[in-house]
Amino acid sequence: MSTQGGKNGVKTPCMNSTRHRLFVSVSPGLEELLERELAGLTDARLQRMEGGVELAAEEAGLWHICRGSALAEGVARTFEQLEGRVARLPLHAFLARGGPLPRIRVVCRRSRLYHSDAVAARVEGVLRRRLSCSEAPPTQLLHVRLEHDQLQLSVDAAGEPLHRRGYRKHIGAAPLRETLAAAVVQAADYRGGPLWDPFCGSGTLVIEALRRSSGVLPGAGRSFAFQGWPTHESAAYTAFCEDAGAAPAQADVSPLTGVIGSDRDQRVLGAAQDNAARAGVEGVQWIHGSFEEVVDAVPEGATLIANPPYGRRLHDPHLSRTYVQLGEVLRRRRDLGRVLLLDGSGGLLLKTRLSWRALWSFQNRGLPVRIVELSREGVES
Ligand SMILES: C[S@@+](CC[C@H](N)C(=O)[O-])C[C@H]1O[C@@H](n2cnc3c(N)ncnc32)[C@H](O)[C@@H]1O
Repeated sequence: MSTQGGKNGVKTPCMNSTRHRLFVSVSPGLEELLERELAGLTDARLQRMEGGVELAAEEAGLWHICRGSALAEGVARTFEQLEGRVARLPLHAFLARGGPLPRIRVVCRRSRLYHSDAVAARVEGVLRRRLSCSEAPPTQLLHVRLEHDQLQLSVDAAGEPLHRRGYRKHIGAAPLRETLAAAVVQAADYRGGPLWDPFCGSGTLVIEALRRSSGVLPGAGRSFAFQGWPTHESAAYTAFCEDAGAAPAQADVSPLTGVIGSDRDQRVLGAAQDNAARAGVEGVQWIHGSFEEVVDAVPEGATLIANPPYGRRLHDPHLSRTYVQLGEVLRRRRDLGRVLLLDGSGGLLLKTRLSWRALWSFQNRGLPVRIVELSREGVES
């Protein structure tokens, strides 16, 4: 038995000490932020790549990452092999003999075999022969990538996308993925104290901020695909979850007081309250009103994090006015703390007549977005 762990002294009794290559995926553009987060979860050497971070880890390393990463969109175990040698891969460790065929997703680039359906049929044939697969519906997902005749197989370890933490049953018209909300919270380095999301919608930013500050693991309370692998050690995993139930306490966390989520849409506020209750988040003041009406209730020094409407998915004829007023409000409340926005508005930020710097630029469902920090200094128009 080996004792392996992530950072912060959480040790895990686990029989399986085989090291595997893991690929942790993230929204393209956030690879460096993910790398920083993973450095706090594992001692493994991290290699930043397009779309994610690769590392070699033992079983418990995988558990730490699946449960502890707030930014990861998915985690997969990868193998490389020359095309035609799929049969030599240790797939029986991940796919049960006599179990269902996995779903197979294929990408082919610059290879002799270029027809993805044909590659899928070959892989399926090998799996059927080796594992005597049943006709039951698939429970696992296998990614097959053929590039320059080199085959890369990845067994999905997370299962359901990792942004689905399980607390969000109600969403607004333009909800923000939990992973991207977590990116804003990490970029703001929020560690408790007063907080305000003036465009809170279904409450994702406030919920992610408070869960992180109170040490709730992003993946606590959900299951992962690796729990269905034949090699999965369920007793050790149960013990791991009991020992490592909470995230390591954040250093220097201020009390979680003066936290406000507000929105002018009463309906989404109801959703935010329900989501917060399900997420175990307490003590938030949810206020109905436009930000100009609510701003006077916001305590001095409050960090402002928000995902203002951009007008691409929400039709709002008054959008320019919203940004002009936001600039006015922020110039008036210079006593507020840092102001970070997830911005996808194109030019609308100019309307605030404030200066800003972009901290992270990335894609959200194919749209270019960025996390910007607004300064309270005006820019001359
Ligand atoms: C992009 S959504 C925010 C989504 C949110 N982050 C979530 O996780 O659901 C923008 C929100 O801003 C709200 N909103 C638009 N204009 C507003 C204003 N002037 N004052 C307050 N809320 C406003 C909308 O009702 C909408 O819920």
